[in-house]
Amino acid sequence: MDEQDVRRQAAKSLSALFDTLYEGAFAVDLSGRVTWMNHKFKALIGWNGIEPVEGQAIEDVLPKSRMHRVLETGQADLLDLVPLGRHQLTVSRLPLHDDTGTLAGAMGVILYDRLHSLKPLVDRFQTLQEDLEKARHELARTRAAKYSLATFVGASEAVRALKRRARQAADRDVPVLITGETGVGKELLAHGIHAASGRAAKPMVRINVSAIPEGLLEGELFGAAPGAYTGADRKGREGKIKLADGGTLFLDEIGDMPLALQTKLLRVLQEQEIEPLGGNTVIPVNVRVLSATSRNLPAMVADGSFRADLFYRLNVLPLHAPPLRDRLEDLPLLCDTLLDSMTERDGGPPRSVSEKGLRRLAGHDWPGNVRELRNVLERAVSATEDDQLGPGILDPLLPPAKGGAGSLAPPLTEGGAGRGIRPLRDLLAETEAAAIRAALEATNGNRGQAAKALGISRSQFYEKLAAMEVVELSVRNSGQIR
Ligand SMILES: Nc1ncnc2c1ncn2[C@@H]1O[C@H](COP(=O)(O)OP(=O)(O)O)[C@@H](O)[C@H]1O
Ligand SMILES: [Mg+2]
Repeated sequence: MDEQDVRRQAAKSLSALFDTLYEGAFAVDLSGRVTWMNHKFKALIGWNGIEPVEGQAIEDVLPKSRMHRVLETGQADLLDLVPLGRHQLTVSRLPLHDDTGTLAGAMGVILYDRLHSLKPLVDRFQTLQEDLEKARHELARTRAAKYSLATFVGASEAVRALKRRARQAADRDVPVLITGETGVGKELLAHGIHAASGRAAKPMVRINVSAIPEGLLEGELFGAAPGAYTGADRKGREGKIKLADGGTLFLDEIGDMPLALQTKLLRVLQEQEIEPLGGNTVIPVNVRVLSATSRNLPAMVADGSFRADLFYRLNVLPLHAPPLRDRLEDLPLLCDTLLDSMTERDGGPPRSVSEKGLRRLAGHDWPGNVRELRNVLERAVSATEDDQLGPGILDPLLPPAKGGAGSLAPPLTEGGAGRGIRPLRDLLAETEAAAIRAALEATNGNRGQAAKALGISRSQFYEKLAAMEVVELSVRNSGQIR
């Protein structure tokens, strides 16, 4: 037997094997029209049997068919996995050549579960596919839960009204301006509105205007054309507004937006288009703008530091989040929820604030609102193993009771040798925080001027401010404010 004979015999048995292997098969010509299809395949795809399948374009028969790839490349496509209902079909696509060797069409072959040797692979693929689906689903669910309006805790009338308005706001594709003191949950509300809106499947992109140095803000928002920057950013980059395309842009601390950029932002709201730095192109975008501020924007409009037209554009739907001191009846629920989330994160026994503890909390003024409450509870939880948090734990974490000494007075301790002595680091941090707050008050919240008054750079100022927001403002003497 010579090689020719062996090959001829092998081809013969291969073709016999082939006949027993396939579930369905069809062929197309060079233009991608079906020239032949066996009955099994017609049954598999549920072809109606009224029209002849022959002569149809393959895309009309199998909408996602990849036969055209074989026709373009002349290359076989072996053992592709294609979903059909709940099954995975093993599909092979083979080029067909005529007697002269030129490409004449292609053949598609379905190897269904008859091909046992492939079964482990197909099963494994199917399992992975199902796991992926599950994971995707779970992720979407937790994301939605994490950011839904339901996570905004409170049963007071003020909060119920606020959430009602937020839900209405979610349904309307218009700009929303959220106002309120620091720590009242403005960002949480923005997330909730986005999650409940028609744009929920698209991104919400947040930009904290106060945290970005003025010189970088424009590029951050609008992006930069190639060549606008030197160095690493030479290739240009996408701005946050573009990244939010189709979704929601959340402008946090909008009151800190420099005037020059206010004009550019107005254009986004009016025309839905952006002009990246250093380019002369205009890019259309489709964003919904949510913004938040703890500053008094109408007062800023009056003194000329905020554009009136921009204010009206942003403030189509105003939402005001009330300070915690005006809704103290929410304290028990807030404490339970915040403590539960800490337990969920850290493990350990479930904790709660005792009756007496709650009374102490209700006596505090909460200038840092829910953020401050959360910080006080975090410190309480790490200070004790008790599952009931009472005055013994909470008092040292709160500023002195009303009528106490100045803002830097030590907290009332249980007495004893260490009375009045506190770590120097804490005292310094509190002094610094007090100075920063005083500077902000004196300059009406203008951070640039406040930094100048304190004799530090803007970026140093922002760093300190960010650190303060984390450790929080509880040094503020409750007798001093309001
Ligand atoms: N009503 C609320 N229910 C639950 N957590 C809240 C509520 N309000 C604020 N928080 C929590 O307090 C912290 C500060 O909220 P945030 O939305 O950043 O406030 P703001 O943007 O107004 O300064 C976050 O940890 C947030 O989850
Ligand atoms: Mg905030």
